[in-house]
Amino acid sequence: MGNPLVARMRGFGTTIFAEMSELALSTGAINLGQGFPDTDGPQVMLDAAIEAISSGRNQYPPGIGVPELRIAIAEHQQRFYGLRVDPDREVLVTAGATEAIAAVILGLCEPGDEVVTFEPYYDSYAATIALAGGVRRTSVLRFPDFAVDEASLRAAFSPRTRLILLNTPHNPTGKVFSRAELDLICSLAREHDAWVVTDEVYEHLVFDGSAHIPVATVPGMAERTITISSAGKTFSATGWKVGWLHGPAEAVAAARTVKQFLTYVASGPFQPAVALALGLGDDTYRAVASSLQAKRDLLCEGLTAAGMTVARPAATYFVIADAAPLGANDGLDFCRRLPALCGVVAVPVSVFCDDQEAARTLVRFAFCKRDEVLNEAVRRLGSLAAR
Ligand SMILES: Cc1ncc(COP(=O)(O)O)c(C=O)c1O
Repeated sequence: MGNPLVARMRGFGTTIFAEMSELALSTGAINLGQGFPDTDGPQVMLDAAIEAISSGRNQYPPGIGVPELRIAIAEHQQRFYGLRVDPDREVLVTAGATEAIAAVILGLCEPGDEVVTFEPYYDSYAATIALAGGVRRTSVLRFPDFAVDEASLRAAFSPRTRLILLNTPHNPTGKVFSRAELDLICSLAREHDAWVVTDEVYEHLVFDGSAHIPVATVPGMAERTITISSAGKTFSATGWKVGWLHGPAEAVAAARTVKQFLTYVASGPFQPAVALALGLGDDTYRAVASSLQAKRDLLCEGLTAAGMTVARPAATYFVIADAAPLGANDGLDFCRRLPALCGVVAVPVSVFCDDQEAARTLVRFAFCKRDEVLNEAVRRLGSLAAR
């Protein structure tokens, strides 16, 4: 029968995470490939989920999300960013940020429409754009500072641009887009009458006093911005898949139309628990960022001591290091050999890129792990320096 997979999804075979996680299992290596924490989020949030299950909140929640979560999302946006959001018309709860991204792209893009992204990009972006029959146009963020290149960004826009899919703070670079960079992006979006879809799942995982600036707070942008986030990263609950989007009512309605045929609803009993977590005090939000900042420092120092050049991230779970000083000339090959070399798993940045050359020897490591795991990983990586 040949390959039954539709042509637009060829090239999206098994993700690198599956390959590398399997390698971690079969070799006993420490998995710094995939970005999930190995500790739980706030106990009161976990207890609230247990309570929701025992009290019978186990059937389909409302299609747009339970009211207390939509209200909590609106209050969160007001509390942290001064944004006014109508919880009934301007918020949609989704099965993680991943479904929010899919619902928006599928809901807004006609086949042939162009979607601008920065690369490296989170891997679901390319696949979702392809599913929609859209055309991906990228601008490269280059190691080590990953600054926006104005000329290449301008060149990525065209009369066919439907939307720009932005991610700040950014996976995999750990970059927080600056005010000037956001102003440029927003002015190009306005010039081309394009939507800005902004994936802000790492909004609270920001270090060294850097400020995350939500695109919707840039003057004049709320009317063309769809903001996406998720409880997974902020509250260390990636398996709950509670995400959301908010934006102008007509864009939210478009995403809702698609979303109802993707999952319809998800994560019923986790939704009230996330509502409670969103309302926790600033200390809870600060604690997760400061603990991650210390983990970042630990891993960055270890990678540097191992002989790699490190781009110190201002946010997220991830750090990118260049393995070229260790003699590597291909990141994928280096990552396939790393478990045997020193018992650590990482992922090559080239899998997040169209321009393979820009990321040829770059490797992404996750530091959202317990200190003892990171200390052991650093000890193992240290053996690379001696080679
Ligand atoms: C940039 C980015 N967006 C979205 C997601 C997915 O979020 P969720 O697990 O809530 O679907 C991730 C997860 O790693 C991510 O890094």
